[in-house]
Amino acid sequence: MGIKAKLAVFVSGGGSNLQALIGASETGKLSAEIVLVVSNNAKAYGLERARNAGIDTFVYNVKDYPNKEEAHSDLLEMLEEYGVEYIALAGYLKLLPEPLVKKYKGRITNIHPALLPKYGGKGMFGHHVHEAVLAAGDKESGATVHMVDEIYDNGRILKQGRVPVLPGDDADKLAARVLEVEHKIYAEALEELIKGKQHDD
Ligand code: GRF
Repeated sequence: MGIKAKLAVFVSGGGSNLQALIGASETGKLSAEIVLVVSNNAKAYGLERARNAGIDTFVYNVKDYPNKEEAHSDLLEMLEEYGVEYIALAGYLKLLPEPLVKKYKGRITNIHPALLPKYGGKGMFGHHVHEAVLAAGDKESGATVHMVDEIYDNGRILKQGRVPVLPGDDADKLAARVLEVEHKIYAEALEELIKGKQHDD
């Protein structure tokens, strides 16, 4: 019960985490309504998932505007129009505009497919992460939900989930095992963030 927080989810690709968040929102495990899905990639399957769930979508690319200031203010206006209170990055591969990071400080999260602070930072995305974990011979990996600030993979860690690295793993197998954990912990972490925030208010 209670008022649901308004959430925007940003995706660049398949959107399986978005799907998990849609599911959690529908079952009430996540006290948020996903009001908008934003993508830099018009072909992202995540946009299709949004449309299937009846969620509005917005394709956003700085290069479609005369300059970045106009691009940034258009994105901010769009989020405002939808009354967005929280932003969840879910496989979003672009850096967020600085004015947005400032405005939503403490209310933007990301999920990363490794146990940060290990295997984070520039270039550490997708299969690169899992290949690095395998190359290092680590016995475990996992996923991290963290707050977003101006630096890649740098913000406060909200939640982590661990999985074993198994003999015979390749990047795809490990990615699939990590994704299962991602789908669980992202909604949990968001729920805790939103609830904590509601108590503060
Ligand atoms: C996930 O592994 C996430 O941790 C990373 O990008 C991937 C997105 O997957 N940031 P999906 O689009 O949610 O399926």
